[in-house]
Amino acid sequence: MREGIARLQADLARFPRLGLAHLPTPLEPMKRLSGYLGGPRLWVKREDCTGQGLGGNKLRKLDYVLHEALAAGADTLVSGGVVQSNSQRQVAAAAAKLGLACHLAVYHGRLTPPSPDYDKTGNALLNRLFGAHLHDVPWNGDRNGAIHALAERLSAEGRTPFIVPYGVSNAMGAIGYASTALEIAQQSAALGFAPDAIVHCTGSAGTQAGLVVGSACLPDTRVVGIDIDAEPERVRADVVAYARAAADRLDRPFDESAVEVVAGHAGPAYGVPHAATVEAIRLGAALEALVLDPVYSGKGLAGLIALIREGRWTSGQDIVFIHTGGAPALFAYRHLFD
Ligand SMILES: Cc1ncc(COP(=O)(O)O)c(C=O)c1O
Repeated sequence: MREGIARLQADLARFPRLGLAHLPTPLEPMKRLSGYLGGPRLWVKREDCTGQGLGGNKLRKLDYVLHEALAAGADTLVSGGVVQSNSQRQVAAAAAKLGLACHLAVYHGRLTPPSPDYDKTGNALLNRLFGAHLHDVPWNGDRNGAIHALAERLSAEGRTPFIVPYGVSNAMGAIGYASTALEIAQQSAALGFAPDAIVHCTGSAGTQAGLVVGSACLPDTRVVGIDIDAEPERVRADVVAYARAAADRLDRPFDESAVEVVAGHAGPAYGVPHAATVEAIRLGAALEALVLDPVYSGKGLAGLIALIREGRWTSGQDIVFIHTGGAPALFAYRHLFD
């Protein structure tokens, strides 16, 4: 395994990063949640602690992707997402730190606003504080269409835009995220265990693609993505595409059978939490002081809890849950916890 870690380290070192994210993020035991569930030993990889602008998993991808933006001489970042997107909030934060303009296509209509202040609090509030220019557009299912149209407009106005794709998911984002698997391999070895699985929520697919490529250095570890988009087939196809492209650029092997997307834990639809999401958020907070969110990390933990209750893992095993962030969105759903 040590050889695999050294090889991945060397492969990743060929790709420069900006150093925006606070890395490595901690890997901590979840003793109280493990005891409560009575299953495997649970650990949490704190990707919510990447720092900048309240952190989250996208910052690690942006570290690599935005190096390309600066190298290309960009003066403006262009991205997009739903009103409470954590991804665009992290793009806005990075732009503020780097002194770049930031224009965001804000998609309306992917979900019905769950609360009256949905577009004023949480990530929406932070986007404005970070100085991003917000452009309201209707959601039509095409994640990147309005982002590209906005970039073309800004280009015609004389700016030098750099497109950050929806969810920061592309080959470079996946390469960046492979570094999480490297950290987990190093940290778990130092803590004296080898994870049987890494479990996380998956949506625009770059996170899982990176984990799948990177986990080649953890030969006995299964990466399990919990679909939170209620589109498991689309998610799986995107994971495969980004992982294949990232593996090609890293000159590493890619085995499609390593891609597992678990359906059935997304609730009724994207952005609509169900009772299991609320239970997971309450357990994470009360037992581990974790602040999870109702769209992503809460559904991810709900999926993990369900798999444990189904008996997928036993008490001698070690499972790493990735807390991918998202806490700001919790405040847009506060009515769930009254
Ligand atoms: C908090 C949080 N967790 C997980 C994800 C999913 O990551 P990915 O889109 O790379 O699948 C996102 C994406 O927006 C997110 O904001």
